[in-house]
Amino acid sequence: MKTYLFGYRVPHGWLVAMLLAPALRGWSADLPALKDAFRDHFWVGVAVNRSIVMGTASFRRSLDRVNEDIALVKTHFNQIAAENDMKWQLIHPREGTNGYDFGPADAFVEFGVSHGMQVAGHTLVWHSQTPQWVFAGTNPPPVAPAGSSATGDSATAGATATNGVPRPRPRPGFGGFGRYDGPRASRDELLQRMRDHIHTVVGRYKGRIKVWDVVNEAIADGGGTPVLRSSLWFEIVGPDYIAKAFQYAHEADPDAVLRYNDYGLEDPAKRRKLLTLIRSLQEQGVPVHAIGSQAHVHVGTTFESMDQALTEMATLGLPIHITELDVNSAQGGQRGTGADVADNASTTRGGLVEEADRRLADAYAGLFRAFLKHRDSVKVVTFWGANDAVSWRGQGKPLLFDGDNRPKPAFYAVVAEAGKESSPGVRPP
Ligand code: G3I
Repeated sequence: MKTYLFGYRVPHGWLVAMLLAPALRGWSADLPALKDAFRDHFWVGVAVNRSIVMGTASFRRSLDRVNEDIALVKTHFNQIAAENDMKWQLIHPREGTNGYDFGPADAFVEFGVSHGMQVAGHTLVWHSQTPQWVFAGTNPPPVAPAGSSATGDSATAGATATNGVPRPRPRPGFGGFGRYDGPRASRDELLQRMRDHIHTVVGRYKGRIKVWDVVNEAIADGGGTPVLRSSLWFEIVGPDYIAKAFQYAHEADPDAVLRYNDYGLEDPAKRRKLLTLIRSLQEQGVPVHAIGSQAHVHVGTTFESMDQALTEMATLGLPIHITELDVNSAQGGQRGTGADVADNASTTRGGLVEEADRRLADAYAGLFRAFLKHRDSVKVVTFWGANDAVSWRGQGKPLLFDGDNRPKPAFYAVVAEAGKESSPGVRPP
């Protein structure tokens, strides 16, 4: 028996399960699993935090809630990504041989491997969440304000390179790693630190982490001339820091799938820069194996815009991984596709859009229709969080499950899209 729910045709059993879900306080075993619905097409992943992989309470969730989150993750997802615990700041906070904190990252990998999931590492080189010691050295910082003009200095060979884009002020987080304006490492020193870090981290999880975000968010936002954003990586090493990072990661695990990962690729101007960057890396023979498109989008993002983005990105001939999917339902978030936590918080003021659940469901349906249309290219779709309560943009209620792990109309909309495909294994009963 079929019935309709928020305009989506769903099996009667699902409706019953959904109506009962509040009473059960959580997901129902009768629900179709996302990973099964899309098994013939792509991995369905989720970003997890340390409380989920270690089974501990967090500042957001009681232990009971965490256990429900774990059950949800195991039921619906066959891929996991590390939301935070592999960022340099957390996995390698100090210099020296005792500078690594592997505990939560080890637990993350063990969780994924023991549950038969594909494990994705996030992220090796990023302008954000990198401790100051990484960039520190004895070379004086540029005299001119960062980003104002090139101020070449043969003694520091590239240390003052700038592309004219003001370097954003890094935001504190995880205990106050802020902007670094002190004396800098040389290009060679910084590359050596990068190489050591990548070889140590990628080498440790070789064969278990199958896919790595090697470089994260290197492209400058919007239109304009510079392709790359200014960052200490860019300023000290120069633009080839990206190629070097991929080279080191490939040395450390030749079988790992290496991704370039960025946000805002729904914007045609930023996407053009992505195409320029990746083509340039390909021409140089750099081992970049997949495009990571974060897809932190909003409810106004349509099938057509995602279809266009995927069509253009597919011209690179690489697999496309949707790496950080969420859809902001907040009033102020309807134009924003940025990835910055503080900026996002300001866009979520003003409440949710009217009929938020329905609009979210419509948006997700369009996105998954596009992912399925491009399934020859789209190999991974990873949600950035298990539910609205643990999401970095939770005020925008951006995920398929609410804070009680109840499936929202968007969940049914997404599964219904899978049911429209021809594969017999994914047809709803
Ligand atoms: O763990 C501490 C906790 O002990 C403390 O009480 C609490 C107080 O605010 O902070 C907690 O740490 C926060 C951490 O998230 C865990 O929730 C940090 O302050 C906060 O800065 C951190 O934000 C993360 C952000 O990246 C910055 O690293 C988000 O969780 C994470 O979702 C977000 O993910 C990024 C991707 O890595 C890259 N693409 C964009 C995406 C969204 O910004």
